Amino acid sequence: MSDDGKQSTVELRYEGGTQPLPLLTGTEGEHAFEVKTLLAAAGMTTLDPGFANTAACQSEITFIDGEAGILRYRGYPIQELAAGSSFLEVAYLVIHGELPEPGQLKEFSEQLQANAALPPELRAMLDAFPRNAHPMTLLASAVNTLGAFYADSTDPGDAEQVDRATMLLLAKLPTIAAHIYRNSIGEAPVAPDESLDYVENFLRMTFGELSGEAELDSLFVKALDLLLILHADHEQNCSTATVRVVGSSQASLYGSVSAGINALFGPLHGGANQAVLEMLEEIRGLGGDVDAFLAKVKDKQSKTRLMGFGHRVYKNFDPRSKEIKGLAAEILDRQENPDELFELALKLEGKALADSYFTDRKLYPNVDFYSGVIYRAMGFPTNMFTVLFAIGRLPGWIAHWREQRLDPAARIARPRQLYVGHAQRSYPGRV
Ligand code: MLT
Repeated sequence: MSDDGKQSTVELRYEGGTQPLPLLTGTEGEHAFEVKTLLAAAGMTTLDPGFANTAACQSEITFIDGEAGILRYRGYPIQELAAGSSFLEVAYLVIHGELPEPGQLKEFSEQLQANAALPPELRAMLDAFPRNAHPMTLLASAVNTLGAFYADSTDPGDAEQVDRATMLLLAKLPTIAAHIYRNSIGEAPVAPDESLDYVENFLRMTFGELSGEAELDSLFVKALDLLLILHADHEQNCSTATVRVVGSSQASLYGSVSAGINALFGPLHGGANQAVLEMLEEIRGLGGDVDAFLAKVKDKQSKTRLMGFGHRVYKNFDPRSKEIKGLAAEILDRQENPDELFELALKLEGKALADSYFTDRKLYPNVDFYSGVIYRAMGFPTNMFTVLFAIGRLPGWIAHWREQRLDPAARIARPRQLYVGHAQRSYPGRV
């Protein structure tokens, strides 16, 4: 690494010569060397399946330090936002870059409440899907279709249209989610109530009149608000990277977010919180024998995975899981018959963290490990868990799509490859 006074560089030495590459330094001192000239200058590309070692962009939205377990949105630590903010305030911060003034937050909230209703044709479209269709499939379809109903907000080149699409997506995603859920249980949809705040309105549209136990309901509203804060953004995760890739072609925000929802649906990404509950159910089926389950996980012949543990970025602990674990305990303490799956989750975490097989592999509980237990305690079925993840992640998807749109360095995503197929051969012809 050399510093020519103007810009640090790293030097790539290869058989054909050497190539200086600009070395960039991030806010927190992290480094990346830029390879955008490498193919033209040295006739080589880089190979990095899954992009685990590749920075796709420069971003100001979220900072993660995987070794130290740090997560900050626009510089604010997740712990401070979790303790004192609200999901709507965090959504505004993530999207616009600064905390809203009180008047701005009030206007933001009122705009979303006033636009929460769905067009009747969109409701009819959702009603036409099979009742047993997975909610994430319907969510992605409905979000993509918003572009058909609000064609005056689909031009990524028009700042006013981008702001309108931003507001409409935030306003309508919870209503779409609740409508999908009500259909899945054969209940009539509940229209949004403009007098309720964002999270309370969603819970009421989902469950109808809340449980009637005001204290428990307010605890559920607080819990879901916190879970949405914790999910609001996570830099270049698979679904956000997908939103950026699709948006890089100048596709609409609706189409880009719809693609992100499909990426989140995957069990290796957002589907993990559903997979955690299924794993806990499997352990319950073993009579709660956590040791037997962990033995299966360690057995290479078995395909049993320890879901909700480990993370591509966090190598010690996921700071979000600490916030969620405390919340889970608070909710389940309130319940007359606490969910035994939470007890199983605590037992599983304790055994795994005491076992060097898992700690040596940096397998610690992540954000998905406890979130499903809380969603279940609120009454959500497992197939709605990833929908809740999507509602939380929507501000992050929007923020990254908007940031890329204004980034002068942004280009259409078009990776290269290393071809390892057949060399040229002749077509034998057909007699
Ligand atoms: C997320 O929050 O998106 C998940 O932790 C996955 C990730 O960041 O890769």
